[in-house]
Amino acid sequence: MTTQYLPTQVMLGSAEDLERAYLHPTEPHLRVNFVESLDGAVEIGGRSRPLGGPVDHDAFMAMRAVTDVIVVGAGTTRAESYGPVRLDEAAQDRRRARGQAALPPLAVVTARGDLDPTSRLFGPGSDVLILTTAQVVAERHDLAEVAELVACGDAYVDLGAAVGELRSRGLQRALCEGGAQLMRSLLMVGLVDELCLTFAPILAGSQYRRLAGPGPLPEVERFRLASLIVGDGMILTRYQR
Ligand SMILES: NC(=O)c1ccc[n+]([C@@H]2O[C@H](COP(=O)([O-])OP(=O)(O)OC[C@H]3O[C@@H](n4cnc5c(N)ncnc54)[C@H](OP(=O)(O)O)[C@@H]3O)[C@@H](O)[C@H]2O)c1
Repeated sequence: MTTQYLPTQVMLGSAEDLERAYLHPTEPHLRVNFVESLDGAVEIGGRSRPLGGPVDHDAFMAMRAVTDVIVVGAGTTRAESYGPVRLDEAAQDRRRARGQAALPPLAVVTARGDLDPTSRLFGPGSDVLILTTAQVVAERHDLAEVAELVACGDAYVDLGAAVGELRSRGLQRALCEGGAQLMRSLLMVGLVDELCLTFAPILAGSQYRRLAGPGPLPEVERFRLASLIVGDGMILTRYQR
């Protein structure tokens, strides 16, 4: 049973209910979604799956279903063996009814271009933008055959330019699915509008990666709790700046 307690108390009984709960509140808008243990770990053994559960998975799919583009760090695509985005027919129909493409493209952030063009990321039905450097664009013709390469800086990826590129293509609402390093980079440049944080009822230990990776942030940031959903022993929060 999944119940939303904030902003109003309501049962969320269907995929459509969850999608409504996760509609982006503004345009443009950048949301980041993470599941973490009670002690802040975002992976166990290099994967997020041991932290997740059915309710978290349903929310993950609802966020995918309402967004214009999914942004993800290359490290997460490698660790989680990312494949093409899939949504069921009903979710695709609801997207079309909202004036969105049937499926959101995947935008992968990489400075080194360390992606294998034969990996499942570029499998049948894939729609991938690679947000990278001018050097990678000039050198990686093999990747250009399986994805669209976008130069967002010469030697490093300027995330402001990367998000600007997405918005100039009409991809105003973005969902970042991690990982820790990309999350920290986005916080460093003040691009995170909303943090969807799911707390799994697990204590993991300090050996695993934390939400914003190691290292300081430029300043203490305060967020406002915008919604609260509980189900399956998990607490699903939406914090907004
Ligand atoms: N709990 C969750 O919800 C959740 C969500 C996502 C991921 N995770 C976990 O997090 C781990 C992966 O996190 P991670 O920190 O290693 O990887 P990450 O943030 O996904 O990706 C790091 C890589 O992304 C590229 N990148 C990130 N920020 C960049 C920037 N500002 N400029 C240019 N490139 C940038 C670089 O790719 P190149 O090296 O190719 O240049 C970098 O090595 C995995 O274990 C995964 O399971 C958990």
